[in-house]
Amino acid sequence: MQHIVVCAATSGIMQALLRVWATEPQAKHVCLVGRNIVRLQQMQADLQIRSPASIYEVHVCDLNDVPQFVRFLDERSHIDLICLAQGVLSNQQDCEQDLDAAHAAFESNAVAPALCALKSADYFFRQGYGHLVLFGSVAGDRGRQSNYVYGASKALLDRLSEGLQHRFANSRIHVTLIKPGPTDTAMTAHLKTAGVRLAPVEQVAADINDAIRQKAWVLYTPRRWRWIMLILRHFPRIVFHRLKI
Ligand SMILES: NC(=O)c1ccc[n+]([C@@H]2O[C@H](COP(=O)([O-])OP(=O)(O)OC[C@H]3O[C@@H](n4cnc5c(N)ncnc54)[C@H](OP(=O)(O)O)[C@@H]3O)[C@@H](O)[C@H]2O)c1
Repeated sequence: MQHIVVCAATSGIMQALLRVWATEPQAKHVCLVGRNIVRLQQMQADLQIRSPASIYEVHVCDLNDVPQFVRFLDERSHIDLICLAQGVLSNQQDCEQDLDAAHAAFESNAVAPALCALKSADYFFRQGYGHLVLFGSVAGDRGRQSNYVYGASKALLDRLSEGLQHRFANSRIHVTLIKPGPTDTAMTAHLKTAGVRLAPVEQVAADINDAIRQKAWVLYTPRRWRWIMLILRHFPRIVFHRLKI
């Protein structure tokens, strides 16, 4: 049975992925980690009905409290897959005017996830195998005036995953970086109201499931974002600085 730890299990994207996994014939042992026990227990009950042969358990943890996460992993004896999906879409203007807001954004989107990733990598190193899935963003590919604090945080995870992939090349440890484009979850509810086109979360979850199965290095989802960001990354500054994005 595959043993999976899902951090930020209550995230819209992970909930959709968990529902995909619950349709698969292979039973799984899944630990749902998050800070909202009521929502975690609701998910546990729902998933258990969808996949009766699987085992779902709940672990309450504020993922910004890294020592708590470290203790949690140290107590587990066997894990095949760890997904670190925590994130907060910070308000760019707040971060520009209030360093505490910027600090909180960096803490939630960069520092704590990076430390959780390093701990997970060390866990797999000691175990000799495992698959770590990190969540970056297309926003990490180029700093833009509308969201560069969030983008810079996600860029940190990009370099970190690259380094971990290099470290574990030719081993039984694999690291996948997921880079969603704007996706229809609670995180982007305000964008939806503003009429921004968002990818259906089911499509993103299906892409992520394929990427995990194929042990991909990096996934842009929906896939068109790979080409959009390739172009955007290569715009000369003189052109890029004229864009209001
Ligand atoms: N949706 C998008 O457009 C988009 C685009 C690019 C990248 N991403 C990334 O994809 C990942 C999943 O996003 P989503 O759209 O599914 O977002 P979401 O539905 O808003 O979920 C975010 C999750 O992070 C959890 N979280 C945040 N800080 C935490 C902490 N300190 N401890 C424990 N849990 C914490 C939240 O827990 P609570 O439920 O307790 O608040 C929630 O489960 C995130 O890393 C996000 O940055 C999303």
